[in-house]
Amino acid sequence: MKALLISRDTQLYAEIASQGAARVPPLNVAASRVSLRDALDRPLAEAPGLVIVDTSEADVADGDLLERLTRHYASAHFMLLTDNHHPDLLIRAMRAGVREVLQLPLVHRALHEAIDRIAASAGVASARDGKIFAFIACKGGSGATFISTNFGYALATLADKKVLLIDLHRQFGDATLYVSDQKPAMTLSDVCQQIARIDGPFLESCLVHVTPGFGVLAAADDPGQGIEAKPEHIDIILRVARQHYDYILLDVGRQIDAVSLRALDATDAIYPVLQLALPDIRDARRLLDIFRSLGYVTDHIRLIVNRYEKGGRLRLQDLHAALGAEVLHTVPNDYVAVTDSVNQGIPVLQLARGSAAARSLADLVELITARRVTETKGLFDRLFGRGEGDN
Ligand SMILES: Nc1ncnc2c1ncn2[C@@H]1O[C@H](COP(=O)(O)OP(=O)(O)O)[C@@H](O)[C@H]1O
Ligand SMILES: [Mg+2]
Repeated sequence: MKALLISRDTQLYAEIASQGAARVPPLNVAASRVSLRDALDRPLAEAPGLVIVDTSEADVADGDLLERLTRHYASAHFMLLTDNHHPDLLIRAMRAGVREVLQLPLVHRALHEAIDRIAASAGVASARDGKIFAFIACKGGSGATFISTNFGYALATLADKKVLLIDLHRQFGDATLYVSDQKPAMTLSDVCQQIARIDGPFLESCLVHVTPGFGVLAAADDPGQGIEAKPEHIDIILRVARQHYDYILLDVGRQIDAVSLRALDATDAIYPVLQLALPDIRDARRLLDIFRSLGYVTDHIRLIVNRYEKGGRLRLQDLHAALGAEVLHTVPNDYVAVTDSVNQGIPVLQLARGSAAARSLADLVELITARRVTETKGLFDRLFGRGEGDN
C-alpha cells in the first residue's frame, strides 16, 4: 500500500518510512507534504491508500483543510498522529470519517496494529468478486444508456452495492450526462494512457461519482485525441474493477469491435436492450447472429424490452420465439418521468421515485441481486405467469 505523510518532522518521516518498509507487504511512504495546505496545493497524481497526518503543529484552519483532503482522497484511509494539543481538530477528523488516531511520540506497535486494521479492511474490499453486465442497444435510441445508468444508480442506492459503469462508446459517449451534471475530469482514454498505474484507488479517482457507491467512467470525449482503448486495456481494467466493485455495468452502444468483444468476453451476462417493434427485432436478430457466429454461448444473453406497453400487436412470447433468447425484464414506456430525468441528468429514481420507470428499475435490482442465489425459473413465472411483485 502507498502512503502519503503530512508532517514537517523529518525524523518522524524516516521512522514511519523504515517501519513501513519492514512490513510484509511493505507500506511504501511514497510522498510527503509539510502541511495540509501543502497536501491540497500539490495533490498526488495517484491517490494514496493511506494518508498519515501529523497534527502536532496544527492551526485553526486545519479542520477545514483536513475535511477537504478527506474528500479529495475519498477512497484513502486516514490516520491522525496527535500530541493531544488540538482536541477540536480530532473531533473534526472523527466527523470526517477518520478512524485511526495514534499518540505521539509514536509507539511502533500501535502503528503496526493500526496499519494491520487498515490492511484488513482494504483486504475485504479487494476480495470482492464483481459481476460484469453489458447493456447493448439493438438500435440507436433503444434505451441502453438510460437503463444501464439508472440501473447502476438503483443498484447502489437500493441494494447498497458498489457499482461502476463504464461507457465503452468510441464516439458520442453520453452516459455521465444521464445521471450527473459533473464534467468528467478523466475518461476511459486517460485510464488507458496510464494503465501501468491502475489499481482500485486510481480507478475510483477517475470516476464521475453520482453517489459514493456509484461511479461512472466516462467515454473518451474526442476519439481523435488521446489514447484509444485496446483490448488488453479492457482486460486489465475489468480485472481490477472486479476486485473493487460488486457490479460493473458496461454501456456498449451498438458497435461490435475488438474492444467491445473483449469486454463482452468478460461479462457474466449480456443484456441487449430493444423495443417491441420490428426494426428493433430485426437488429436484435442480427446482433444475436453475430454472437452465435463468433461462437458465443448465448446462455447468458437475456433481453430487456424497453418502452413496453401491454396489449400491443407483438407479444413477448413472439420475441422469445423470434430471437431464441429469454426476456429478463420489461421497462414500461414512461415518457414524462424518463424525459424529465434524462433532460435534467438526474436518475429517475431520485427525481420520480414513484414513477413506473423507477419502480421497474427497482424490480430489476431485486431480480438481479436475487438471481445470484435463485434459479432463473422464477423470472419466467414473474413475467408471464404470476402478478407483479409476487416473487
Ligand atoms: N422507458 C422509457 N420510457 C420513455 N422514454 C424512454 C424510455 N427509455 C428511454 N427513453 C427515451 O429514449 C431516449 C433514448 O434512450 P437512450 O438510453 O439514449 O438509448 P440508447 O442508449 O439505446 O441509444 C432517451 O432520451 C429517453 O428519453
Ligand atoms: Mg446510448
